[in-house]
Amino acid sequence: MKEIILNHPMIKHKISVLRSKDTSTKEFRELISEISMILCYEAFKNEELTEYEVETPIAKTTGYKIDENNYAFVPILRAGMGMIDGVLRVMPTAKIGHIGLYRNEETLEPVKYFSKFPKGIENKEVILLDPMLATGGSGSAAITLLKQDGVKKIKFLSIIAAPEGIERIKKDHPDVQVYAAQLDDHLNENGYIVPGLGDAGDRIYGTK
Ligand code: PRP
Ligand code: URA
Repeated sequence: MKEIILNHPMIKHKISVLRSKDTSTKEFRELISEISMILCYEAFKNEELTEYEVETPIAKTTGYKIDENNYAFVPILRAGMGMIDGVLRVMPTAKIGHIGLYRNEETLEPVKYFSKFPKGIENKEVILLDPMLATGGSGSAAITLLKQDGVKKIKFLSIIAAPEGIERIKKDHPDVQVYAAQLDDHLNENGYIVPGLGDAGDRIYGTK
C-alpha cells in the first residue's frame, strides 16, 4: 500500500516549528496534538457513513454519521500518548488501547513492556499512533501484537517518517496503510531521523 504523506503548506509550517531545537515543551506538545488531529482527519477520509434524518430550523435533510464504536486508537508508549489529545478531538468516544515499547539503544530492537487493549478489539479498526517512524522496528512489532489479538484492519499514523521505516512496514505488513505528516531524508548511525526532531518522547515529556 502506498504511504500517504500530508503535503500541505500549513503542515510544512507546523513541522518546521516542531523540529526546531528552540521550541518549548509546551509548544511542542501543542503542535504534536494539532498535527495528529489533522492526520486523523486524513485517515478517515474514505470511511463509511450511515445516513440519518436531520431536521434543521429550516428543513429536513440527510445527515451522515461515523460509528465511533468501530474504531480504537492505540498509541505506542511513551511518545504515542502525545497524539491522543489531537485524535480524540476528531473522535472523542473511540476506545483506547496501549502498547509499551522502547528501543534498545544499542541494537535499536523494540522491547515490549506493556499492552492492554479494549474488549472486542478484533472487531475494530485500529489507528496506531507513534510520532516517529524511524527503523520501523517499533511500528512493525506493535502491528504484529495487534494482529496476534485478531485485529484485521490497521492504519498507522506518524508525524515524521524515514524512508527506511516506511519500507519496513510495507515489507512486514503490506496490508497496513501508513500516514505521515512529513517524510524525512534518512536515519543516522544511531537510528535517529535526519533532520527529524530528536527524541520525541523526551521532547513531549521534558525528560532531557
Ligand atoms: C521512539 C518513537 C518510536 C520509536 C521509533 O520511541 O516514539 O516508538 O522510537 O523508532 P523505530 O522506528 O526505530 O522503532 P522510544 O523507543 O524512544 O521510546 P519512548 O517513546 O518511550 O521515548
Ligand atoms: N525515535 C525518536 O524519538 N526520534 C528519532 O529520530 C528516532 C526514533
